[in-house]
Amino acid sequence: MSEKKPFYITTPIYYPSAKLHIGNTYTTVAADAIARFKRLQGYDVFFLTGSDEHGQKIQRIAEEKGVTPKEYVDGIVAGIKDLWKMMNISYDKFIRTTDDYHVTAVQKIFKQLYDQGDIYKSSYEGWYCTPCESFWTETQLQDGKCPDCGRPVEKAKEEAYFFKMSKYADRLIKYIEDHPHFIQPESRKNEMLNNFLKPGLQDLCISRTSFNWGIPVTFDEKHVIYVWIDALSNYITALGYGSDNDEKYKKYWPCDVHLVGKDIIRFHTIYWPIMLMALGLELPKQVFGHGWLLVDGGKMSKSKGNVVDPVTLVKHFGTDPVRYYLLHEIPFGADGLFNNEIFIKKVNSDLVNDLGNLVSRTAAMIEKYFDGAIQPPTAKEEIDSELIDLAIGLSEKLNEDIKNLKIPEALDHIWDVIKRANKYIDETTPWILAKDEAKKERLGTVLYNLVEALRIVSTVLSAFLPETSEKINKQLNIETTTWESIASFDGTRAGTKVQKGEAIFPRIDLDATLEELNKIKEEQAKKIAEAKKSEAKAIKPEITIDDFDKLDLRVVKVLACEPVKKSDKLLKLKVDLGGEERQVVSGIAKFYKPEDLVGKNVVLVANLKPVKLRGELSEGMILCGATDDDSKLFAVNPGELPTGSTVR
Ligand code: MSP
Repeated sequence: MSEKKPFYITTPIYYPSAKLHIGNTYTTVAADAIARFKRLQGYDVFFLTGSDEHGQKIQRIAEEKGVTPKEYVDGIVAGIKDLWKMMNISYDKFIRTTDDYHVTAVQKIFKQLYDQGDIYKSSYEGWYCTPCESFWTETQLQDGKCPDCGRPVEKAKEEAYFFKMSKYADRLIKYIEDHPHFIQPESRKNEMLNNFLKPGLQDLCISRTSFNWGIPVTFDEKHVIYVWIDALSNYITALGYGSDNDEKYKKYWPCDVHLVGKDIIRFHTIYWPIMLMALGLELPKQVFGHGWLLVDGGKMSKSKGNVVDPVTLVKHFGTDPVRYYLLHEIPFGADGLFNNEIFIKKVNSDLVNDLGNLVSRTAAMIEKYFDGAIQPPTAKEEIDSELIDLAIGLSEKLNEDIKNLKIPEALDHIWDVIKRANKYIDETTPWILAKDEAKKERLGTVLYNLVEALRIVSTVLSAFLPETSEKINKQLNIETTTWESIASFDGTRAGTKVQKGEAIFPRIDLDATLEELNKIKEEQAKKIAEAKKSEAKAIKPEITIDDFDKLDLRVVKVLACEPVKKSDKLLKLKVDLGGEERQVVSGIAKFYKPEDLVGKNVVLVANLKPVKLRGELSEGMILCGATDDDSKLFAVNPGELPTGSTVR
């Protein structure tokens, strides 16, 4: 037997910082359909997904929740795996970037790049978008905000290692130009070349010291490796690269396709290929950047309360209707819309009417006219040929579609056969043939042809709608479902007994279901509004002047200031209280550079019980004003009052 050809496909690894929504589900469902299709075709498929668990964002969320980052991610990752189970995702491996083998391999990669001179130590001063985990220069910001997500950025200034990206820029430009299929769709390729590569690449900061939830640099432990360097490496560490057993790496690398959303194409087509070039490894064959799934009000976001939850949809409609919508209704590569009404209408027309009815009519007629037994086909009539040719030609069309990642087109081609088969029933009118004993043989042939067409349809549908395909196979007792078998029209054994079951898709009552879904949406919006309201600060219970008098607020001058090690929030200040010196730790590092505070007067809550924060003694608290969401903060300014003055 000849060796199966390997095929390696990946999804991005997901941040476990938020509940996954229908948008993230989209990438994985699309990758799953491709992986299943390639398996059907006889490829030896490796389908990788996983979770991207390090970084500042995760550390902050865990700190807020009062748990360790590992405890936090463990809980969320279990939920991600449950979602993939529910969506019928057939991944071969789920990598977690906290897995030991990954950590070791990333450390080796970093060390190799350092030893060969591609990484050097310097200091970083610029901006950082924590939600995107991206570095930006002043000029790249748009209105002072992250150009990718539009959210506020933070100043970062710290010792850091840098990767000499610029050294490889020309080689990468040439590679992209010589390999027109490397970045797809075409528009994304032009964007990368014209907006990022050709204007000149800056060296990339690839380590952080202001927090510690990451993979430590082995030879300089106060640094953790930048989360994108850690995350991108997953595509090879998952195959055993950098471990004792790299058999899978040898077999599957280079990857056939990295499927990613358009927002992260830059990381995959600039940083990742340059890392690979520096390591002397082959580049992936293709990076495909799909579009965004939008909802009625635009982008999905938790604060807008318009996030579509795949679990709610699957509970209402089942997995395959959701898969069908994602795979068919979103033009692959462009942005698409998710809308409950269009969704329900599509399910009713394409799944309930076209496919569901075809299956139940076919099974019902065989039961009614032949006691459930499929008859042998006899002479072919001209009217049969159109259906037969279309069904036999399907595999070649789908082969081309999937090769070019044209998933909606592939489903269109399958539906051409389904629609043709429905038309064939109307044309051949089996119920009239059944009235004439002399036409019994012809009736048997017509029904055989319908079963054969459905066998071909069900075989290929196993990639897109796996549960549905199983249901069809069960009702029609379909046994032969290999890729090779669908190129000819004789895979059904005469005499096979069909067994009509329940409708494979129940019809959805549009109005009632919309109302139900709207109720869920309203409840979701209400919860968000309530959460926001309870977040808005209510005035605290009344106090007396005597209570207030207990506070000893003093004007102090900042004598010295430095960041607290391994914390991106805390500054350590030395202040003068009018003769007495004190050390205070304050959570204002996001808003003040240490040198901005030195020499300034601020207000100290001077009689607060001392505490230790991150191992540093804090004798008092700097008085500040801040917005509820902590996006803005100012230390209260007592003007030029002498140090030691009271504030009352
Ligand atoms: N952790 C990084 C990926 C590292 S890969 C080495 C990341 N994670 S993510 O959880 O934020 O996003 C995962 C995927 O979901 C990305 O491909 C992203 O583009 C995709 N989507 C997130 N929201 C989406 C929509 N609304 N629509 C379509 N895809 C979307 O990025």
